[in-house]
Amino acid sequence: MAKLKILKKNSPGLRCPCRPVTEITPRILTLLDDMAETMYDADGCGLAAPQVGVLRRVVVIDVGEGLMELINPEIIAAEGEQCESEGCLSVPGEWGITRRPAKVTVRAQDRNGNWFEKTGEGLLARCFCHELDHLDGKLFIDPGIMIERLEPAK
Ligand code: NI
Repeated sequence: MAKLKILKKNSPGLRCPCRPVTEITPRILTLLDDMAETMYDADGCGLAAPQVGVLRRVVVIDVGEGLMELINPEIIAAEGEQCESEGCLSVPGEWGITRRPAKVTVRAQDRNGNWFEKTGEGLLARCFCHELDHLDGKLFIDPGIMIERLEPAK
């Protein structure tokens, strides 16, 4: 495993749409391992492949329920609304209130290529939306996502 460099908000790669994974190669498995290590090292609850310079639809998440690996994830259901604070490892030092669905169901492939569905509420729902946004080149600070900027704590 290796710790990867996390791109910061002005990197052009963070604004690109990512391509689907068509075959789960050893390179993709190594990417998943390295992304998990990088996320834990940075104390984050999610990381998307474009944040480490790889324009593929791959995400890792851990909101305290264990590591979740998502390949080719898509949101298949969303309901309700929540407005809570959010940050991003690619946008250090900035925080804001975002408007997100309260409950989100994601469909994705695991590292064996098997499709699964997972429903999350609260932080997990926010995390699903945030990380999947990265795969389409969007950041939480964008208009339409962040509704209020929070001043950093003094
Ligand atoms: Ni992020």
